[in-house]
Amino acid sequence: MGHRTSVGIHIQAYPGCSLNTALNPIIRISSDAPLALAEAMHNGGGMLAIRPVAATDWQSYRDLRLRALRDSQEAFASTHERESGRDDDDWRARVSAVASSSTAQAFFAHWNNEACGLVWCKASDVELGVVEIFQIWVTPDARGIGVGSALLERAIKWAEDHGAARVRLGVTIADSPAMNLYKASGFHAVGAPEPLREGSALMSQSMELNLGPRPARKEARS
Ligand SMILES: CC(C)(COP(=O)(O)OP(=O)(O)OC[C@H]1O[C@@H](n2cnc3c(N)ncnc32)[C@H](O)[C@@H]1OP(=O)(O)O)[C@@H](O)C(=O)NCCC(=O)NCCS
Repeated sequence: MGHRTSVGIHIQAYPGCSLNTALNPIIRISSDAPLALAEAMHNGGGMLAIRPVAATDWQSYRDLRLRALRDSQEAFASTHERESGRDDDDWRARVSAVASSSTAQAFFAHWNNEACGLVWCKASDVELGVVEIFQIWVTPDARGIGVGSALLERAIKWAEDHGAARVRLGVTIADSPAMNLYKASGFHAVGAPEPLREGSALMSQSMELNLGPRPARKEARS
């Protein structure tokens, strides 16, 4: 995988552009990202918002999740084939359940009200103090500008707010943006790799982040 060159951009440099997570005061635009969103920033700004998925969002959630499974087949244990078999009642019930749950939460990333990313977090059913993170995905045209980091930070914040001591996720073993993101965010490997799904040659690694004070991730670069 090629190494990105990137430029540091303070949001304040672009009137009308802001990031409302209050977690990443800086957005970086990589020179090789497909830059629909970056262009939007240059051409008048916009807003990145990370917000909880509501029960009424079930169709947007379904569409984004199916798009993610089609786009990133090597990143997820589930498959487009499996999930596209769900009927509307199933999607509606699933999203309604997470929206009203006190032990799970899904978040959308929105750029100017258009969904451009997703993450799902859930308290472990079996291990007290552990929150699991799933389904993190950013639309290809929104990658490389901090959306994935913002989603991950929001999921971690949710875990902290729910008293978790550790956050856990699984990632396909590869030299990938996802692996880089998790390592750079302080996650470390735990346990032995396992097949991503039955019959797959791809291996998935569990990674954990111990919660507590962490160094800031994003810094201005020029
Ligand atoms: C992984 C993913 C969510 C990252 O989202 P993103 O919005 O592009 O990420 P960001 O712009 O916030 O970058 C965060 C970090 O990811 C890593 N990263 C992102 N793009 C990268 C690239 N092209 N090459 C190498 N590392 C990259 C870097 O560590 C980066 O930190 P840095 O900017 O300080 O160098 C996105 O690439 C994606 O949706 N991939 C497909 C689905 C997937 O793999 N999901 C993970 C399932 S476990």
